[in-house]
Amino acid sequence: CGIVGYIGPREAYPIIIKGLKRLEYRGYDSAGVALYDGEKFISSKTKGKVSDLEKRAEEENTFKGSMGIGHTRWATHGVPNDVNSHPHFSNSGELVIIHNGIIENYEPLKQELINRGYTFKSDTDTEVLVNLIEDIQKNKGLKLGKAVQVALNQVVGAYAICVMDIKKPNEIVAARLGSPLAIGIGEGEFFVASDASPFIEYTNNAIYLEDEEMAIIRLHKPIKIRKIKSDSEVSPYVQELQLNLEQIEKGGYDHFMLKEIYEQPQVIRDTFRGRLLSDQGLIKMAGIEDNLNKFTNAKRIIIVACGTSWHAAQVAEYMIEEFARIPVEVEYASEFRYRNPIINADDVVIAISQSGETADTLAAIKLAKEKGAFVFGVCNVVGSSISRETHAGAYTHAGPEIGVASTKAFTTQITVLALIALRLAKAKGTMSQSDYLRNLIELELIPEKVQEALLENDRILEIAHIYKDAPNCLFLGRGFNFPVALEGALKLKEISYIHAEGYPAAEMKHGPIALIDENMPVIVIAPQQNHYDKVVSNIQEIKARSGKIIALVSKGDEQVKNLADHIIEMPNSTEALTSIIATIPLQLLSYHVAVLRGTNVDQPRNLAKSVTVE
Ligand code: G6P
Repeated sequence: CGIVGYIGPREAYPIIIKGLKRLEYRGYDSAGVALYDGEKFISSKTKGKVSDLEKRAEEENTFKGSMGIGHTRWATHGVPNDVNSHPHFSNSGELVIIHNGIIENYEPLKQELINRGYTFKSDTDTEVLVNLIEDIQKNKGLKLGKAVQVALNQVVGAYAICVMDIKKPNEIVAARLGSPLAIGIGEGEFFVASDASPFIEYTNNAIYLEDEEMAIIRLHKPIKIRKIKSDSEVSPYVQELQLNLEQIEKGGYDHFMLKEIYEQPQVIRDTFRGRLLSDQGLIKMAGIEDNLNKFTNAKRIIIVACGTSWHAAQVAEYMIEEFARIPVEVEYASEFRYRNPIINADDVVIAISQSGETADTLAAIKLAKEKGAFVFGVCNVVGSSISRETHAGAYTHAGPEIGVASTKAFTTQITVLALIALRLAKAKGTMSQSDYLRNLIELELIPEKVQEALLENDRILEIAHIYKDAPNCLFLGRGFNFPVALEGALKLKEISYIHAEGYPAAEMKHGPIALIDENMPVIVIAPQQNHYDKVVSNIQEIKARSGKIIALVSKGDEQVKNLADHIIEMPNSTEALTSIIATIPLQLLSYHVAVLRGTNVDQPRNLAKSVTVE
């Protein structure tokens, strides 16, 4: 979910609506807003997107007021409908709250409140929380901030919240545990949001709340930050933001996803700039240099991640094992954290996350730390929870990724992981100097080659036209391109809703081959590299069963061209680094198929970009 709050001299409504639109990547099942108009609260909420809210809000009310909160929801408790949308009011109507996260013990709390006469309109855990705050206020005679604090000490779960109280017309109380919250500090005005994008054009100064901190934000007064448990005061640390407006706008592209696909040559270069010194044969990454012994002495590296980042982890497994000869295990963070994994003090754990906020990955990191492992983060969002929770790390420099389906985050993750694998290979002496240097030079050429791969866009669009109505689709690859096949399938299903599966090419004959007939498009990643002949055999097997073959081939390939129904050409690189190049046509293919099917490319149904719940 995404939350926005404003207090200051301006009209709050347009700021909140614009902010919610920027946060829609965090969830878009429903949206709502509440404002204080100088006398009373006015509120509107609806199932659907922020644009639906806008329509409804403008029909219902004139939204005037200079303090307000808004929410865009990714449903956890209760189906997405108008009643379950945020904000939620307390029974008296005096308190109003927005909440991102889950209150796990809401059932007993709700029961207790029902016994005390409270009634509930929605199925949400959030309505329980706001009434709990009200109950505490009434029974103990506490002011808003204190009552919120007492309530939060009773709840188990995760939250980022903003609360307003009709009795405190110049105050917003915000708190965080597990879900991010940034406070923008302007001239005589304050903003609260799940990330800084809603307020970037108003101020560059922000405070990021830490877990278990709450802020009392009052007009014309300094912000007060307290620890929720210990009640100690924390002096606010104001950071200067690096974000700019252009980075979070579409810049002439129809969709963020397309813009982000086309940004890849640039952001891959940004990611290795200053780190890859090919003329000196060096890789310099502070996070790795400072902890080199931990890596070189590691008996094992465990990589934890979710979604697309998990696919990057799979590429990294192959790279680190091949280059640096350190055994690697890749785990879904959600599985790892709940199965009492074996972790030794000489294991190194790498956590990969674009957002740096994924709840399962964060929990996996905490578990690994408890068990004594050294944890290294690969994140895209500077200052994110995961970047702060890990012992050390390396950022990807993809810039803000707004399309829900991850593109540039993935290829920059592979870039960073390639640098790490090569640096470790050098330190361990497990790679010949010539192979090492060749990889360095090839990595430096990747942006140009990605640019070249993008030139196939028109051909890919033609292919998309032919297969846009296919109900199923298979993606095959070997070696480093096996995870790329998984990622290609994930992209297609995420944004076009076509059922797609990724498989190691040779494994096809152990199951998926049963699905192949003349209606089944099979996308095969078949560059002219080590396993080329084997992949050609796999293509023959598909052809023998009348499957439709779309092959990704090295430029100038003739053999596969004669077998496949369609080919998409791409430049060659080393086997490992071709994984980055091969990703590009698959991103474009799913993009075009989705556009032709009329789905919402940037905000596909049911998904959210940043999943801060378990
Ligand atoms: C969500 C997103 C995916 C992403 C995954 C992990 O499911 O929709 O695109 O890969 O979370 O996110 P992270 O921010 O940890 O990389």
